[in-house]
Amino acid sequence: MTSTDNNARPRYSETLFGHAVPTERHRLQLVQEVFDPITIPVLNGRGIAPKWRCLELGAGAGSIARWMAQQGAQVIATDTDTTFLDCVSDENVQVVKHNVVTEDFRPGTFDLIHARFVLEHLPQRDAILAKVAGWLAPGGWLVIEDAGAFAMEASPYPAMRNMRDAMRRYMADAIGTDAHWAPQLPILLTAADLVETGMSVAVIVNDNGPGTAFMRATVAQLGQAIVAGGQVTEAEFAAAMRLFDDPSYVDMLAAVVSAWGRRPLCGI
Ligand SMILES: C[S@@+](CC[C@H](N)C(=O)[O-])C[C@H]1O[C@@H](n2cnc3c(N)ncnc32)[C@H](O)[C@@H]1O
Repeated sequence: MTSTDNNARPRYSETLFGHAVPTERHRLQLVQEVFDPITIPVLNGRGIAPKWRCLELGAGAGSIARWMAQQGAQVIATDTDTTFLDCVSDENVQVVKHNVVTEDFRPGTFDLIHARFVLEHLPQRDAILAKVAGWLAPGGWLVIEDAGAFAMEASPYPAMRNMRDAMRRYMADAIGTDAHWAPQLPILLTAADLVETGMSVAVIVNDNGPGTAFMRATVAQLGQAIVAGGQVTEAEFAAAMRLFDDPSYVDMLAAVVSAWGRRPLCGI
């Protein structure tokens, strides 16, 4: 194992989004409920098929790893904290405690590698993308999905826009998250010598259902730390939270950028 994690910041899973936070498992289940219907068509579009060797990086609560296995794939599901993968019992899924920053897999191993809402939080994200691309077999696909800050920045509600902007700045300072990284993914995938690159974007609108519950849980989980840090006042935090209960509140809550590229087949 080589160590490239020299950044002095705490890692994503050591902070307010750590698995030890009592509400984090539920929040990650909401992430799955909201974003799996966006992710699955993207993975289907890559042609996932029985016997594919798949790697799900930062697997969280494991729904995409399970879905890959249901397609007949052989799946490795990794995370630095595998606690929430306790619910993955499919015999085609191997759960591995693995840090994508510091650890490797053998080059040329996988037909499909997927990471959702993982790389944007890792300061070494550009180098990790290039490293992970090297784990693809010829013809294998790399699919990266991360948030697009543009949706939250476009909110016409000042209370929500200010709260979300404070959250974005807090996560950038505390962890090194870059919510503006995702739109350049096709360029980075091309720079990693991948071909057939592409991108799609989906926006989550509040629905008084799982989308709203996911964003409410996310704002609630970060809010007190942001108030304590002085980025917003208690009253501003409360004003943002009240919007989630306002039946007239209609807003873009989040955007996800899905991007993909493929290792060239031998001889092409
Ligand atoms: C926002 S969650 C997303 C979970 C899942 N990918 C999903 O979208 O449902 C980020 C996940 O990445 C994991 N993670 C963070 N840093 C990691 C690292 N360096 N290597 C592997 N996993 C990591 C976290 O523990 C967490 O489970």
